[in-house]
Amino acid sequence: MIGIIGAMEVEIQGLKAMLPDAQTTTISGIDFVTGTLRGTPVVMAVCGVGKVFAALCAQTMILRFPVQAIINSGVAGTLSRELGIGDVAISSDVVQHDMDTSPLGDPVGLISGPNVIHIPANQELAELVEETVKSMDRHCVKGTIATGDQFLCQTERKNWIHETFGAIAGEMEGGSIGQVCYVNQIPFVIIRTISDDADGNAPADFPAFVEKTAKAAIEITAAVVEKYQAE
Ligand code: ADE
Repeated sequence: MIGIIGAMEVEIQGLKAMLPDAQTTTISGIDFVTGTLRGTPVVMAVCGVGKVFAALCAQTMILRFPVQAIINSGVAGTLSRELGIGDVAISSDVVQHDMDTSPLGDPVGLISGPNVIHIPANQELAELVEETVKSMDRHCVKGTIATGDQFLCQTERKNWIHETFGAIAGEMEGGSIGQVCYVNQIPFVIIRTISDDADGNAPADFPAFVEKTAKAAIEITAAVVEKYQAE
């Protein structure tokens, strides 16, 4: 079974509609919908926005459903000149840009305990996503995806995240889902279609493009799930 998590309804609703046999189990206020997506058993959920909801959802999914891997699908702001609206960011790894114990002498972004900054995504899954996106004639870049509890809309912050972590896209859940998967040894990948520039235009562009770009992420995720099963 593959787990699929989106932060917002618009990032998941199109996938739910593809299940001929959907069944819902509600846990901690989150609906977990199981069914068959293009021949593969899946469980999908709308986790809500931000790192706490994303972690709660990923951990519950792992404990309550037999997931072999988790895909986080949705939209992101670009942090790279190589990615424009409608292009696709694929995680090689994730970081949390708002994790900061640097006053204690740690490097910024360090997750104490496992003592890592960059958490690697599953490389086979990331390559499968890359192949799939290319076969759909969409531009994509594989790299670091940065997560934090902030909607990014300022040049200074955007540039700092890009320069500090080498990140290509910014969003609010992937790093948290990655951390939960890492400690549970569950393979994961983040697929994010670019909805805005994470800069001054983001507050206007996000609502204008979120629906269309989320739809593209859904199509990619469905194609990846289909291929994953075939492999
Ligand atoms: N998701 C989509 N756009 C975003 C942005 N600019 N900041 C954080 N998360 C996002």
